[in-house]
Parts: sequence; structure tokens; C-alpha cells
Amino acid sequence: MDTAIESRPDYNRLILTDRVNGRIYYDPAVFKDELEKIWHREWVYVAHESEVPEPGDYVTRQIGLQPIIVSRDDAGKVHLMLNRCTHRGNTVCQTMRGNSHAFRCAYHGWTFNNRGDLVGVPYAAGYDNSFRKEEFPLARVPRTGSYRGLIFASLSHDGPGLEERLGPARALLDQFVDLAPDGEIVVRSGVLKHSYRGNWKMALENSVDGYHPNILHHAAMVMMTRGKADMESLFGERSDAQARDLGNGTAQLDLNVIQNRNGGRVVPPQWSKAAHEEFRAALARRHGAERADQILAQGGPHFCIFPNLILILNQLRVIQPVSVDETVIYYYPTLLKGAPDEVNQRRLSETYLVHGPAGRVAPDDFEAYERNQMGFEARVNEWLLLRRGLHREEHEASGSIAGHETDETTQRGIWHYYRDLMTH
Ligand code: FES
Ligand SMILES: [Fe+2]
Repeated sequence: MDTAIESRPDYNRLILTDRVNGRIYYDPAVFKDELEKIWHREWVYVAHESEVPEPGDYVTRQIGLQPIIVSRDDAGKVHLMLNRCTHRGNTVCQTMRGNSHAFRCAYHGWTFNNRGDLVGVPYAAGYDNSFRKEEFPLARVPRTGSYRGLIFASLSHDGPGLEERLGPARALLDQFVDLAPDGEIVVRSGVLKHSYRGNWKMALENSVDGYHPNILHHAAMVMMTRGKADMESLFGERSDAQARDLGNGTAQLDLNVIQNRNGGRVVPPQWSKAAHEEFRAALARRHGAERADQILAQGGPHFCIFPNLILILNQLRVIQPVSVDETVIYYYPTLLKGAPDEVNQRRLSETYLVHGPAGRVAPDDFEAYERNQMGFEARVNEWLLLRRGLHREEHEASGSIAGHETDETTQRGIWHYYRDLMTH
């Protein structure tokens, strides 16, 4: 098949059921289309409400490449505004987080309150009487919504609502948050930021790739299970876990069956028995003993929501594209409100131990992404295969498709949704 880069990308030819073409990861024209058809149109995860707990708190983020400010106003309402001065376009806020009642543009000093209203214009006499400050607030992100404290936004004025878009992902978000005895997670323990020379989609696909852990991360797995676990039954052919495409770009590695055996963990719990009992009692106060045991046995879920949110056990990852071959991933540890300190300490330290710069797992993945991007320079046969398990996947009554944990059911689900978006 001719995939000469001079032609416009034809997504129906680049994405087939059992394969995708490498061009989808390196062609700047594809990246440009993605900005328009995905990042600036779809619901995108932006921030967690607990990151801006107090009046005046703000964080700066991007939706695709567009800079935005998430700020809590003095009345406690959260606003999502474009970080672009309505005078001549400077960003008005330069820091990643802080607390401020106003954003003052450094260029000519226009000042906006934390609701985005223009409240100050230096040398105002230079404007005639028809000039109204009310006509120049910071632009608002057209649609925003939140689910269990997670704030999503869309730069498009229309399209499906957030609840509809999330669909079955809501039950998995519930599983993630219900581990907190007070019913809320807290995302305020710093962030690990990794950048890599590679396309953003590799991180999304990899997050639900159950084929690689036992191979790419073999050393880490042995270390984390202290060499005692049967690796083949965790992430190998003998595993009874599943890879699931839930539709709408939500894909899951369903490790519940393994976690149920191990007390809510892929590897056995590492907090003390006393902390476990305290945790269990706190959950039982909210849900009753039976449900508390169920929540603990199930543990956190492992899934992604297209295009940029990944939730794995105890952390939240966000994909931020920079260009066609550069990406930043943010790893946010999450704490469980109402859980014993020891449990939260363990969640925090695990994120750093596993995903820090010298962590046991993340550096392997980043190396793999960069090697992938290098491999894409070989242009003789450009196909990447996604056929693993295609012959044995199962269409479930709920509409999802389930395969063996090591199958590429999850990647096929992501690409199916991607092709739909790119061809509409
Ligand atoms: S660009 Fe912001 S005040 Fe001029
Ligand atoms: Fe990995």
C-alpha cells in the first residue's frame, strides 16, 4: 500500500481492524487534524477539584495546545478560562499553580479578576466612550463538567454531554473514588512530570497493554513481588485477567480477579494489618461491612479514557501532547480522604518508587516510546500489528468486547474510536 506522505492522511486506509500504519504517529498533518478533531472538540480531562480547594486557588493547564486557567473564585465557583489576554493575546498567568484574586497581564497591565472579568485597564482615557470593560473578559471554555471531582472540558459548543461521553467509564471512576472512606480523592501531593520524544498515542495505548508488563517490566515485577509471585499468572498466558474495550475510547485491563485473590492489589498489600483494619472500619462506617470488604477486595481499577486520562490503581496520569513527536506525561499520586495515614503514605511512596525518574516501571515505558518513534523512521513496511487475540475476543451483553489480558482488544478499541472521530 502506498503511504507517501505527500498525500492527505486517509484515516480509513491508515487504520484497519488488525493494524495501523506508522504514519499515524509521525506525520505532522495527522497531529494537526488531531488538534482539530480530538483535542479541541472532545471532552478532555483538565484538573481535579481538590487542586483548587480555596477561593483564589488556580492551576494552569492546556486543552490540546490551548492554554487555560482553572480558578476558584471568591464565592467558591470553579471557572475555566482561556489564558489569553483580550488586549493583544499575551498569556495572563505564567505559573502552574497559586492563589490570586486577579491576573494582571504583564504586557500593558490589563487586569482580570479570578472569574475572568476585565477589571482594570491602565491609562483608560485612551479609549473612547464606547469602550466597555464588560465586553472583554477572558474567553471561557465553552463546556465544562465534573464527575466525582474530576473536571473535564470541551472547547466545542456542541456534542454529547459529559455523562453520555463517559458512559461505562463512570462505574470505573466510581471504583477508583469509592476506595476513599469519605468518598473523595485528594490530588494535592505534587506531580511527576516526564517528557519523551514520541507521539502521545503510544502512552495511551501502552496504559492498557497487558502484553508488555511481564516482558518489558520483568525485572520490576520480580522486584515488586519479591520474586515470590507466579509471573505467568499475573501478566502471562496463564493469567485469568481480561483486556476490555468498553466503547467510546474507554479501555480497561480488568485485573479484578487477580486483585480479589490478593486483597485488592496486583501484588499483596504492603501496609500493616492494623492500618488495614482501620481502613476497613472507616469504609464500613460509610458503606456497611459487606460492601467495605468488596471495595477492599476489588482495589483500584486500571483503565484509560480517551484521549488523555489514565487511572491505574492509585494514580492519575494525564497525557499532554506537545507536537507530533513530543509528549509530556503527568503522574499525580492520589490520596484517599478518610483513609489511615499509613495507607495514604504507601500510595504516595508507591507512585514515586514505581514511576519516579529512577522508578521501577515508568523509565522502561519511556524508553520503549522513544525506540518506537525511532523505529517509525523505517519506512519500507509501515504497518504495526494489532491482531493479537482478535480470533478469541468475546462480545459481552453490555456491549463491551473482552479478550485475554495479553490481547490487543484494548488497543483495537482505542483505534476504533479514534478512526470514528477522525473521519467525522
Ligand atoms: S496584551 Fe495584555 S495588556 Fe496588552
Ligand atoms: Fe508499562
